[in-house]
Amino acid sequence: MLNNTSDQFGIFMKTRFTELFGIENPIVLPGMSWISVPELVAAVCNAGGLGILATGPLSQTQTRAAIAKIRSLTDKPFGIGVTLMMPGAKENAKIALEEQVPVINFSLGKGDWIVQAAKEYGGKVIATVVTEKHALAAERAGVDALLVTGHEAAAHGGEVTSLCLVPNIVDLVSIPVIAAGGFSDGRGLVAALALGADAVAMGSRFATSNESPVHNNVKNAVVEKRVADTIYSKNFDGLYARVMKTPMAQKVTQKPMNFFVAVLKSFKAAKLVDMPLWKLLIGLFAQFDKIKLLTLFGAATEKLEAATIHGDLENGVQFIGQSQGLIRSVDSVQEIMTKIMEDAKKVTNSISEY
Ligand SMILES: Cc1cc2nc3c(=O)[nH]c(=O)nc-3n(C[C@H](O)[C@H](O)[C@H](O)COP(=O)(O)O)c2cc1C
Repeated sequence: MLNNTSDQFGIFMKTRFTELFGIENPIVLPGMSWISVPELVAAVCNAGGLGILATGPLSQTQTRAAIAKIRSLTDKPFGIGVTLMMPGAKENAKIALEEQVPVINFSLGKGDWIVQAAKEYGGKVIATVVTEKHALAAERAGVDALLVTGHEAAAHGGEVTSLCLVPNIVDLVSIPVIAAGGFSDGRGLVAALALGADAVAMGSRFATSNESPVHNNVKNAVVEKRVADTIYSKNFDGLYARVMKTPMAQKVTQKPMNFFVAVLKSFKAAKLVDMPLWKLLIGLFAQFDKIKLLTLFGAATEKLEAATIHGDLENGVQFIGQSQGLIRSVDSVQEIMTKIMEDAKKVTNSISEY
């Protein structure tokens, strides 16, 4: 399955994923709100990986403009990420389809209609999953690959660790698997391939790159923090999520947010994506559980933005994975990519010497 060849930066590594998606190295930048922006997406694509734009905080007009921006920065394949349960996500997916983007990555929802529409123009679709059930459903829906997110991951990783979840899902499906959660270097890449994955997605690592728009306070904190300095809790945004351990994160994860406070905060978040408030209110009565989750999600936006964009770790809360403890410097995307590929080669050679 693997085939390494020399190139100007180190090595290319071919897997089923690189072949199918037309990229050089089996490394993906996953969608991260405010972080996976056109500049970072294009930097990863130009360095031989697959960058995926996060459309969570974007309106339809902004999504279309972001796609044009990526196209102006790279001629390589790129992806558009949509979290289907979020307001405005379906509309953003439709923009991606209209624009015939090379790859669409959907999560938290049914993406059958995206698969059908993307296939019509030769686009590829990746589903993000954290359970066996959703992996099988996505394969049945015809997706081209799965992004499987284990417990170690920043934000909404699964209950099961990558070490067990990835081989478990690899055994169940026949399409390529991208392993996410805990991978940040060449050792991680080789480990993921050994588990049967065809690529890795690295969120925390690329969020801590020179090209990432994450505030320097956060990047410096990542370099300082250790693997155990995270919290995995349902109390922050209503779904189990991993955040950086700070006094504020400890405080907000002690108990669930008051629902009425959450409703007020989520109105503000809905405005961001041009969603009319009446839609949110009607939704509140029609599908209470779903909208309650959405409301908590929206309410968390303020704290995420404060940390990620404004670098305010006293009042904000930062998504981050356990791999922060393995990230010891802030480097350019090209440096990160080259080092991962070189280290992966060294690790592979050292294992085969035994
Ligand atoms: C700072 C940061 C912000 C993130 N924001 C989002 C997000 O908005 N939506 C989402 O689905 N995943 C988000 N993620 C999760 C990533 O998409 C990915 O699943 C995760 O980073 C993989 O684990 P890793 O951090 O160990 O590489 C975020 C990750 C990080 C590090």
